[in-house]
Amino acid sequence: MPALFTSRASTVYRAALLAAAVGGAGALVAPCVFIRTPYATGVADPVEQPVAFDHRHHVRDDGIDCVYCHATVEHEASAGMPSTARCMGCHAQVWPNSPELAPVRASWRSGIPLAWRRVDALPAYAYFHHGVHIQAGVTCAACHGAVGEQARIALGHPWSMAFCLECHRRTQGGSRAITHLTTCSACHR
Ligand code: HEC
Ligand code: HEC
Ligand code: HEC
Ligand code: HEC
Ligand code: HEC
Repeated sequence: MPALFTSRASTVYRAALLAAAVGGAGALVAPCVFIRTPYATGVADPVEQPVAFDHRHHVRDDGIDCVYCHATVEHEASAGMPSTARCMGCHAQVWPNSPELAPVRASWRSGIPLAWRRVDALPAYAYFHHGVHIQAGVTCAACHGAVGEQARIALGHPWSMAFCLECHRRTQGGSRAITHLTTCSACHR
């Protein structure tokens, strides 16, 4: 009985199968690689804000403490954003007529808060609490990088489960190990 395919045909067929397999894998892997590129994760894209606020001037040059503006960060889950009153505490005197600060003055007069756009956000299914981390001595920079060197806050790095876990695996919280905080239910409640 003659072979159904010539040996040349089956070589071509195998090559085509291999190409399909490799191509198929490529098609599956490509989007996975893509979603991790800085382009797709938005890393380094500065977020457009209602006022051109610059952390370098306020933190590095003027030495204002993070907590002065992000007032709930030491005790609550959320760090909190500064009220217009916080800004006006200085800017009623410092640069009171600057056009850059016009939206701040308008917010002060109208009572409508400035709509700061969110930069850092975890998906809703992940639980995070600032206060416990600050109380345990974890610095802002460990997670946010050198904010005082950034003109506009860009997403420092995409939050990932691996980032959180890596620290929990090696950290001693105060005098105790916190490896129990690598169980799924610690962050997924
Ligand atoms: C403790 C005082 C203080 C507070 C509070 C403060 N600022 Fe400033 N801000 C300054 C000083 C001082 C400058 C002058 C910048 C410089 O040259 O160092 C400045 C400059 C600015 C500028 C001009 C651009 C720049 O950064 O040079 C903007 C815009 C600004 N501030 C926005 C704000 C906003 C919005 C808030 C509230 C979230 C705020 N500031 C809170 C002291 C303050
Ligand atoms: C004078 C007030 C002020 C001080 C001091 C200040 N911030 Fe901010 N911060 C702001 C304002 C206003 C915004 C929103 C505008 C922006 O994104 O730059 C902000 C945004 C941020 C964000 C992004 C928030 C988000 O939406 O995810 C982070 C992170 C942050 N600040 C960390 C810090 C850290 C860390 C320090 C201290 C090293 C600090 N800030 C000091 C006023 C302040
Ligand atoms: C252990 C990591 C970690 C540390 C330490 C940390 N942050 Fe954050 N921060 C985050 C994460 C994660 C988010 C996003 C939270 C969310 O979506 O629930 C965030 C969000 C924020 C925001 C915007 C949203 C909010 O919570 O109001 C600000 C502002 C902020 N951080 C400031 C600070 C400051 C200031 C410090 C230091 C005093 C600090 N963070 C320390 C991880 C951290
Ligand atoms: C640089 C180290 C570090 C990083 C990064 C870090 N953590 Fe933690 N985390 C700690 C320490 C230390 C504690 C222990 C606090 C204590 O109980 O003393 C803790 C405690 C916790 C707890 C238990 C306390 C509570 O709030 O119920 C949760 C949940 C948690 N972290 C979530 C996260 C998440 C989510 C991330 C990533 C966005 C993260 N952590 C990133 C150091 C870190
Ligand atoms: C220390 C906190 C922490 C612990 C412990 C943790 N996760 Fe997560 N997990 C996160 C955070 C934060 C995200 C969201 C990351 C992001 O921004 O995409 C996440 C995302 C996920 C996702 C979505 C897919 C992904 O990888 O982004 C799955 C599935 C998941 N976690 C499962 C688990 C399971 C299963 C465990 C236990 C073996 C676990 N997690 C333990 C913090 C944690």
